[in-house]
Amino acid sequence: LIAFFQKKSLLGKRVLITAGPTFEAIDPVRGITNRSSGKMGFAIARAAVEAGAEVHLITGPCDLTTPLAATGKITRTNVVSAKEMHAATMQSTDCDIFFAVAAVADWGIAKPAKDKIKRQVRQAPDLEFVANLDILADVAKTVKTKGGKLHPYCVGFAAESTDLQKHAEEKRKRKGIPMIVGNIGPDTFGSDLNQLLIVDESGSKKMAQAEKLQLARQLIQLVAKKI
Ligand code: CTP
Ligand code: CA
Repeated sequence: LIAFFQKKSLLGKRVLITAGPTFEAIDPVRGITNRSSGKMGFAIARAAVEAGAEVHLITGPCDLTTPLAATGKITRTNVVSAKEMHAATMQSTDCDIFFAVAAVADWGIAKPAKDKIKRQVRQAPDLEFVANLDILADVAKTVKTKGGKLHPYCVGFAAESTDLQKHAEEKRKRKGIPMIVGNIGPDTFGSDLNQLLIVDESGSKKMAQAEKLQLARQLIQLVAKKI
């Protein structure tokens, strides 16, 4: 019902979203992942479809069902590793807005074992890591200006354990993006609630604690004005 009354502020626009965690395989049965539930990214996908956009949702492993699938306005690509997420995303950069909501692994395992590593080996295995590519920074490098507007307009997310505002502002500049959204919590991971800090070139402002879907709708209206 809310969706019905909502302004169709993204009619005819294309929105690309990464969501959820990534999973870096150690061997066929083990891997390294993180606590992202995918809820915030999926909420943004829903809010974007409600606002009239065509959405491509690229998600790491999570249990969530595709929002508003029956509208035909949403395409979902399931990926596992950060490398797969990078490849899928770079094929889809021709869009109006990019929301990088995924919690992407910063490092992958250099040589995942082909067969399960057995416990009987004398000592714990030495895992060698390799740095993963920065998906958001790489999409930001493809940005063009069309009629004075950024294409795509890139929005990053940041979850920090200290100095959120300082780290978010640094990250925004380092990645060359116009907006970064800081997760204030209280406990962001898996929760239906969140509180956001919006950091852009004009400074920072808080969005009051609310359900992730409600915050996603507010964020969509905010970003719609920028494009
Ligand atoms: N991100 C990405 N690809 C990566 C790492 C991060 O696209 N390989 C995106 C995330 O989706 C998020 C933003 O970058 O939108 C910030 O992620 P974060 O992990 O907070 O930033 P990092 O640059 O990885 O810095 P750090 O983990 O050291 O805080
Ligand atoms: Ca990181």
